[in-house]
Amino acid sequence: MKRIVVLSGAGISAESGLKTFRDSDGLWENYRIEDVATPQAWKKDRRLVLQFYNERRKQVKAAKPNAAHLALVQLEEKFEVHIVTQNIDDLHERAGSKKVLHLHGEILKSRSTMDPHLVYTIEKHELNEGEKCELGSQLRPHIVWFGEMVPALEYAAYIVSRADILIVVGTSLAVYPAAGLVNYVSPEANKYVVNPDPVVGELAGFKFINAKAGIGIPELVQELIKS
Ligand code: APR
Repeated sequence: MKRIVVLSGAGISAESGLKTFRDSDGLWENYRIEDVATPQAWKKDRRLVLQFYNERRKQVKAAKPNAAHLALVQLEEKFEVHIVTQNIDDLHERAGSKKVLHLHGEILKSRSTMDPHLVYTIEKHELNEGEKCELGSQLRPHIVWFGEMVPALEYAAYIVSRADILIVVGTSLAVYPAAGLVNYVSPEANKYVVNPDPVVGELAGFKFINAKAGIGIPELVQELIKS
């Protein structure tokens, strides 16, 4: 079975109503990134950080997978499919994709500030001050903040290196180290980019599909299934 790896970013969830970071002029839903998505922000104003992610979590729960998320699931009939996503939403899972690796964490989970292996599902909409892990330390959102290591990076690079087909969708490829993952793909792989706008950096050997994910992905999926 041929292996397809999909590297997805915020753009794939745009048509589900979730705003991309780059579309919001350096502000993310009216917040400055450095105030809400960095370890420094957590030290300075934990309440604001929790509030920001509580709002994002509410939006994610209200959103639904779109035609792009759903079409990618169909690929599993014919291919071994791995989704490597920079997104913190669960729309790939809710669409039905079986193998989803979240590079930047998951908004529906919390984790211990004492032991990063202690990860919990957030049952309610909110995570608040005073909610603690089993060791007694404050829980934080299970998110990789700017300036933090990306724990899944090495495994993601391995997955990309084994791809027969790579699909890069809805990402500006501006945020490292995730953007560097495209460099691990084999020269023999078939490579596609689906994006309505140009992406940062040179992608030699990629076929550029100039379309929104909701149109470009279902078309590409049909083409690959027929091939
Ligand atoms: N279909 C496909 N692509 C789209 C669509 C759409 N409907 N709408 C926008 N895009 C594209 C934009 O052209 C842009 O290239 O999606 C990309 C979004 O880029 P970013 O906002 O930079 O998102 P991403 O690449 O996922 O960002 C990486 O930065 O926001 C942080 O940690 C966060 O994981 C995220 C990381």
